[in-house]
Amino acid sequence: FQPKALAGRRVLITAGPTFEAIDPVRGITNHSSGKMGFAIARAAQEAGAQVTLVAGPVHQPTPAHVRRIDVQSAQQMHDAVLPLAGAHDVFIATAAVADWRPAAAAGQKLKKDGSGRPPAFEMVENPDILAAVARLDDGPYCIGFAAESHDLLRHAQEKRARKNVPLLVGNIGPATFGQDTNALLLVDAHGHRELPQADKLTLARQLVAEIALRLNPSTP
Ligand code: C5P
Repeated sequence: FQPKALAGRRVLITAGPTFEAIDPVRGITNHSSGKMGFAIARAAQEAGAQVTLVAGPVHQPTPAHVRRIDVQSAQQMHDAVLPLAGAHDVFIATAAVADWRPAAAAGQKLKKDGSGRPPAFEMVENPDILAAVARLDDGPYCIGFAAESHDLLRHAQEKRARKNVPLLVGNIGPATFGQDTNALLLVDAHGHRELPQADKLTLARQLVAEIALRLNPSTP
């Protein structure tokens, strides 16, 4: 009998984009599909973990036996994740969180005023959810993601150090948003290795196996 690699582990995952309201009918978002995060949720559940998935606005079916919490904004994602993080063993931040939001969403739909001048927005920075979880005492083992257009290894190494996470996963470009395949670059304290181009569920299963190895280093 081979026990499952993540049996008894609790895994918390963020996925998808966030949506930052400008007014009741408009907002700022991005092209994240959530596919990678949802595939990782499925793979972790199949590996025996209890999985909580905090999802921004996406069109993805919830994987079987996964607890899903839907949110819209970065602040809501932060407020959903932080109280749960301490009760989880692993935190995987795949969400493409907006860096900024309009300082205040207008209460009513913004209208053209005839002056020809567009409205000006003040933006404020959103909380960094991954960095906040990585700062917790006794917090979960944290995995961050990076999507970069160039110098992926250097940026991934820098991001790993800046966010203070043990494992940083780079999307090996170009334009993985919405695609069914990807390749990943895993960067940890010992160096880096590549998971070559494959469909996202295959990569998710490989990543889950890599995470399990790091949680149970003595498992044969
Ligand atoms: O700083 P950057 O957005 O490039 O870092 C990407 C990583 O940090 C991803 O794992 C993403 O989910 C996470 N992140 C976050 N909260 C933010 C910004 C990024 O959790 N506000």
